[in-house]
Amino acid sequence: MVLNDSKEGRSGTDRQFDDECVLFLAAVGSESFRAPYEEACRSIREKLEQINEELSRRMGRRFIKSIESRVKSPRSCLNKMVDKKYEITGQTASERLNDIAGVRAVCFFLDDVYKLADILLGTPEYEFIKLKDYVKKPKASGYQSLHLILRVPFDRTAGRGTESVKVEIQIRTQAMDFWSDIEHHFIYKEVTDDDLSEVEEEFLKCAKSVRKIDKQMLKIRKKILRAKRAQAQ
Ligand code: GTP
Ligand code: MG
Repeated sequence: MVLNDSKEGRSGTDRQFDDECVLFLAAVGSESFRAPYEEACRSIREKLEQINEELSRRMGRRFIKSIESRVKSPRSCLNKMVDKKYEITGQTASERLNDIAGVRAVCFFLDDVYKLADILLGTPEYEFIKLKDYVKKPKASGYQSLHLILRVPFDRTAGRGTESVKVEIQIRTQAMDFWSDIEHHFIYKEVTDDDLSEVEEEFLKCAKSVRKIDKQMLKIRKKILRAKRAQAQ
């Protein structure tokens, strides 16, 4: 936790830091700060739903399984700013944090992940910022997902024109999502270091199984398609 609630024994520098944190939480928690991020999430979700409808119709199967979004809480923004040693201001947060607005799309198959990323990358209204391919190169933890950082426009009322904010879009398969959800909830449990390294090993093994399952599912889908085509002839 960043802020220490006890005022006792705090030095001048500590108190100045506390004040900065309080101001930051108020700024990042304000409606005017959050609204553009909420709006950008809403607009990406809408786009993903359109893509899903169109591709599911064309492919004759469901393309995206689920779409979730969230705007990062002020407390999580503060923790990240402190971890990354950024200046604790709202402006620095919007400039440096890529994931204040976060959207997650879960696909059925491995190749769908890249198909969806390509469609988003080819959408002219989004400005490309960064792509992190943790599918091709998983994290040391075993985490797999495709992260796309895009600058997404939103309409400002009061005739001040269109502005944009960054959105982190995580695209992954169901199997990757299953792993990541469980790992995220349990890895930070209070266990001793020795226990933790054993748990991490187990998670790594599961991540390898996830990879294998995703590849097998892709093969199964292709086999079914071939069989259907053969039957239709
Ligand atoms: P920048 O976005 O580049 O500023 O750094 P970052 O550390 O936020 O980016 P990174 O791409 O590493 O991770 C962003 C998000 O991915 C996190 O908020 C999580 O949702 C997810 N993530 C990253 N690593 C892991 C992991 O090891 N396990 C799980 N479960 N999720 C992870
Ligand atoms: Mg991030």
